[in-house]
Amino acid sequence: MTAKNEEIIFSKFLQTCDIPVEELRPEPFTMVIFGGAGDLSRRKLLPSIFYLFCREELKKPFSVIGLDMQEMTDVQYRAVMKAAFQTFTGGPPDEKKWDEFSGHLFYLSGRFEADDIYTNVADKIRHITIPSSGGTKDVIYYLAVPPRISPLVVGKLNQHGLNKDFNTKVIVEKPFGRDRRSASELNRVLTTAFNEDRIYRIDHYLGKETVQNILFFRSSNAIFEQCWNHRYIDNVQITVAEDIGIAHRGAFYEQSGVIRDIVQNHIMQLMGLVAMELPIGFRADFIRDEKVKVLRSIREMDSNYIDVSFVRGQYGQGKIQGEDVLPYRQENHVSADSNMPTFFAGKFYIDNLRWGRVPFYVRTGKRLPKRVTEICIQFKRLPLRLLGRDCDALDPNILVLTIQPDEKISLRLGVKYPYSHNQLYPVNMVFNYRETFKTNFTPPYELLLTDCIKGDLTLFVREDGIEEMWRVVDPILEIWESLPAANFPNYEAGTWGPPEAVDLIEQDGRQWITE
Ligand code: BG6
Repeated sequence: MTAKNEEIIFSKFLQTCDIPVEELRPEPFTMVIFGGAGDLSRRKLLPSIFYLFCREELKKPFSVIGLDMQEMTDVQYRAVMKAAFQTFTGGPPDEKKWDEFSGHLFYLSGRFEADDIYTNVADKIRHITIPSSGGTKDVIYYLAVPPRISPLVVGKLNQHGLNKDFNTKVIVEKPFGRDRRSASELNRVLTTAFNEDRIYRIDHYLGKETVQNILFFRSSNAIFEQCWNHRYIDNVQITVAEDIGIAHRGAFYEQSGVIRDIVQNHIMQLMGLVAMELPIGFRADFIRDEKVKVLRSIREMDSNYIDVSFVRGQYGQGKIQGEDVLPYRQENHVSADSNMPTFFAGKFYIDNLRWGRVPFYVRTGKRLPKRVTEICIQFKRLPLRLLGRDCDALDPNILVLTIQPDEKISLRLGVKYPYSHNQLYPVNMVFNYRETFKTNFTPPYELLLTDCIKGDLTLFVREDGIEEMWRVVDPILEIWESLPAANFPNYEAGTWGPPEAVDLIEQDGRQWITE
């Protein structure tokens, strides 16, 4: 088929098969960022808003008010954010565009516990915010602050009526609380001040195109969905591996560790999308209902089960791509005898009719050999040796959804090796996103900010979802925190974690697929 023909077919597909969704449009807005001068704002939020501005995806007039403790004027804030853009995106912004954009940026300084900052915010919003087409002043509060500060800020917004005087939404960053109890408390404070449909709990994994595709892939490929259960699937493996260490984030990581940083949110969301029943439609609550149901079905675990089915690790020194790297305990702002795990491996079960007895093996860590996020679905082998007793043992079929960095879907098949009498050979059928669509994906923060501005909650986590995810990990946290690991550091940087992570799966007669 010629490229031209392919293009015609693809554009017809888009015209005819695009799923009709409620038409949501961006309106002019003011975003108030608590933590406006902090790390997240510099690295992700302001660059994302700038890119949206450049692509003309923000309806003018809009404004962004950064709020933080440092003393700064609007002019200084604009200069700091411009320098941050250059540092974190690898190049300076287009001068002309930045000059135009920076006129939309404002700054207020103060302590989040002080009342006057909220009065100042209200005055500033009244002054700079232009009503939308509905005549409302649309205001988005972005809580880019540590979880212990969030209830205080929401309480103050409520006390000062800033939740009611405008048409408001609130975005809450992860980690959402420290455990189920604090997450419920934060939910309580939030839902006292805002309706649930105004609360956007963000998990940037849900903004990744390949993560969203999990559900589309399942819904649109009957051959897989019909086998997507315990009768055909032997096990599921989820790997979120990073080769980076904790860099400048030692202080944050010492408070969180691998479970709060990755397992409670990103991994639970991936598990939810792989294992949930298909929703009756692609509306936010249809999807969130099914996801919560499956999270609720993850088996409760007692201390005996946790002891034998979960492995923790912390990286020591080692090499990444040939370069020596420091052990975790020598990273900046990390205690020299820190007990914080940087690696997690474990086995979950989902007790429902679809998944009974299928193990979900999960593995994540810092300073592993490479950056890769993958979901591997390993199918059961046929119960007999097809080609006679002297044939090679059959390799299982494996469907691999590679979320990043090389976005693709591959299916491992066995074929007869040419000229041989009985030898099987494993091959892969591969679909690669970038090669097929010849496009770069919208970065998650840009996509999620746009969704929030438009009012689409589909890719945000609901109150009950957050609490279920904590329910799953709380018992592991409790046990690990009450019994410090005696053998940290227990894996060399640049390796796939401690040997116990391999034993964990091998004792079940299986192997990790990603390498
Ligand atoms: C963040 C974690 O949520 O996700 C980081 O706090 C981690 O520790 C990052 O590095 C990974 O995100 P991504 O998109 O690079 O996989």
